[in-house]
Amino acid sequence: MAVLVTGGGGYIGTHVCVELLNHGYDIVVVDNFSNSSVEGINRVKTITGKTFKIYQTDLLHKRKLIDIFEQNSINSVIHLAGYKSVGESTEKPIKYYANNIISTINICEIMKKFDVKKIVFSSSATVYAPSNNHQPISENFPLGATNPYGRTKLIIEHFLSDLSQSDSDWSIGILRYFNPVGAHSSGLIGEDPKGVPNNLVPYLARVAIGKLPVLSIFGNDYPTMDGTGVRDYIHVVDLAQGHVYALQKVESTTGIDRYNLGTGKGYSVLEMVHSYEKASGRKIPYEIAPRRKGDVAICYADPSKARNELGWVAKIGLKEMCQDSWNWQQNNPNGYEGDHPSPLNALKR
Ligand code: UD1
Repeated sequence: MAVLVTGGGGYIGTHVCVELLNHGYDIVVVDNFSNSSVEGINRVKTITGKTFKIYQTDLLHKRKLIDIFEQNSINSVIHLAGYKSVGESTEKPIKYYANNIISTINICEIMKKFDVKKIVFSSSATVYAPSNNHQPISENFPLGATNPYGRTKLIIEHFLSDLSQSDSDWSIGILRYFNPVGAHSSGLIGEDPKGVPNNLVPYLARVAIGKLPVLSIFGNDYPTMDGTGVRDYIHVVDLAQGHVYALQKVESTTGIDRYNLGTGKGYSVLEMVHSYEKASGRKIPYEIAPRRKGDVAICYADPSKARNELGWVAKIGLKEMCQDSWNWQQNNPNGYEGDHPSPLNALKR
């Protein structure tokens, strides 16, 4: 019996695959590699010493999904595949709605056809309505995404809830990620954004290594301890382990549940800069820029539901998050080979 991991080639996907394999699960990966590299999957095999099947396929192709279910003994799904850039989603809403939503409907339709009704879904803290004065955020906080990407996550959450209502055999775990950062301690897998990174930590990494000249800090007049934005950064290995705990819960129950995956601690942009300077031993030049549209001052999780109901807690601190990010950046200054789309036959068999 295997877990089907959609989007297993991505930043979070590769780390989830490592944790599943380390916990003794068999996995099958499906990814279209539109925003990831087969080299990441090769490295999952190197880290774990295990092998597994990979399908380079788009979840929009139902026939191919049926083939995967026919060819493998799948009994649960971790669904991570999806487009995830907030900025791009505002420019290309059709691309985001069509891909993220239809691919989820397809995967659930085929799961139902094969009587596989256990799924863990990758959602985001972006589904919560923006709030500057009510922290930390627990799962019953009001919902209300502010951009097309976030709305696709919210719509999928509603869809999964309707699915659960319609058939009590389904077991669904929704994971709302806060800000995943860092990399596997081996330095073999990590975040490899295309072009100029949008998110803080990959941007810091590029400045530290000298590929970008200066960090723009988006606002220093927020009502926070030093005026810069505060977020709940969580090490990607902790996040990946959260998926294993959620899967174990999904395997043993039915119904639907939502869990925050965060540390419960917030750090400001300036604290991140200083921590990254320590980790890298490099000075990080920065300038203060205007606030970024859509940003809130503070956002951090109440992770107690995941602790109480899944038995999961984030263990890795800020120092290691920055050290592991830097280790990955130094070992892979051009990411995975410098270019992303690689033919599937480059995969290690
Ligand atoms: C962003 C996304 C969110 C997504 C998450 C994934 C937006 C509005 N939100 O969250 O939907 O789930 O990434 O991790 O894009 N910052 C700078 N300079 C930079 C980059 C960021 O000062 O060059 C600041 C931001 O203003 C913010 C903090 O760093 O205060 C974190 O930003 P970022 O890493 O982009 O994450 P979020 O905005 O929290």
